Amino acid sequence: MSLAGVFAGIFLLAALYCGLDPLHHSALHGFPDFEAVKVDLPPWSEVPSDRDALNLLQRSEIKFLNQIQGPESIAFDPLGRGPYTGVADGRILFWDGHSWTDFAYTSNNRSELCGPKTSPFGYLKHEHICGRPLGLRFDKKSGDLYIADAYFGLMKVGPGGGLATSLATEAEGVPFGFTNDLDIDDDGNVYFTDSSTKYQRRNFLHLVFSGDDSGRLLKYSPITRETTVLSRNLQFPNGVSLSKDGSFFVFCEGTINRLRKHWLKGEKAGTSETFANLPGFPDNIRTNEDGEFWVAIHARRSSISYLCAIYPRVRMFILRLPIPAKIQYLLHIGGRLHGMITKFSPEGKLLQVLEDSRGKVVKTVSEVEERDGQLWMGSVLMPFIAVYDLSLGCSLIVCVEDPE
Ligand SMILES: *[C@@H]1O[C@H](CO)[C@@H](O)[C@H](O)[C@H]1NC(C)=O
Repeated sequence: MSLAGVFAGIFLLAALYCGLDPLHHSALHGFPDFEAVKVDLPPWSEVPSDRDALNLLQRSEIKFLNQIQGPESIAFDPLGRGPYTGVADGRILFWDGHSWTDFAYTSNNRSELCGPKTSPFGYLKHEHICGRPLGLRFDKKSGDLYIADAYFGLMKVGPGGGLATSLATEAEGVPFGFTNDLDIDDDGNVYFTDSSTKYQRRNFLHLVFSGDDSGRLLKYSPITRETTVLSRNLQFPNGVSLSKDGSFFVFCEGTINRLRKHWLKGEKAGTSETFANLPGFPDNIRTNEDGEFWVAIHARRSSISYLCAIYPRVRMFILRLPIPAKIQYLLHIGGRLHGMITKFSPEGKLLQVLEDSRGKVVKTVSEVEERDGQLWMGSVLMPFIAVYDLSLGCSLIVCVEDPE
């Protein structure tokens, strides 16, 4: 056989292997109805390119290593105790200053299925049974803890903990698919996100890959106990946080790497506008005492994620290759897990970028909670909470001088 014949043969076999995917490695295996739609990711010229060349997040302290798995959200109660955090096995844990204790649950059907696993991905299979508490916030007046559980919807538990009560599981007759984050205003209204009605959290990779736009921004009224839709057709809405004065809230459209501002008061009430473009895929948002917004960036956007966003056919082609979803995900986020957080002014100006671009200490941050000059960072993929002391260094963008 000629050399050309050998190459042709190899090419044919490779094409057959990719086309037939006999070992079911393709990320699309098991998703026959999968569709990829175009994502209007802002062009590179409109995205902040600022970097933290000093990788200041590497100076964070790792706390509670291997005592907690996948702490997504971090909350302190109105008496200043905590932190409280929701972990991968579905529990909400409380740090009493000495040790972690079980505080609350979202599932009334927990069993040995919810026991410890070796990797954070190991919990995905039973999350719909065990629960997966994501966004947590305390109502400062009542001391009740509000919970956005990815599977059980919007819930609430009293200051004593225990089994949480369901507040809402649907809006307009459409069940929530992936409840994600929340905030509460002074009147007790809860603003929260349902990331998708089509893909659950355990299929979040497919939610990201598809560009699905079934996400909704919702409002729960404690008086009528009804949930209304404030915004719909969103691509992976995730974090949500009220402004300090309560005149608006900011939420993220994860797939588009963008923050939106939704007005609650004033002449623009009920309308929304772009707040800021982000350098990557956002997760939760938390407001600090100065009214600035800390936005956790799950991963910086990459050249591959940009190409895949604007060319859904390229995305479909790559997803059909016999490459497992986890590897596809790594390609999407630039090859390695890394750490990045950003801070925005109430006007949407980028104030600070802190990074661990090689993921040596901090990776895939889910939430940043600022408290007494420290940043508490949770991550759905990490077995610890990272704490960064703001006095350690200033960013390259804004260097806040110590007055002393
Ligand atoms: C309760 O959990 C078991 C597995 O432990 C599961 O088979 C069953 O479907 C669950 N029931 C409900 C109502 O979710």
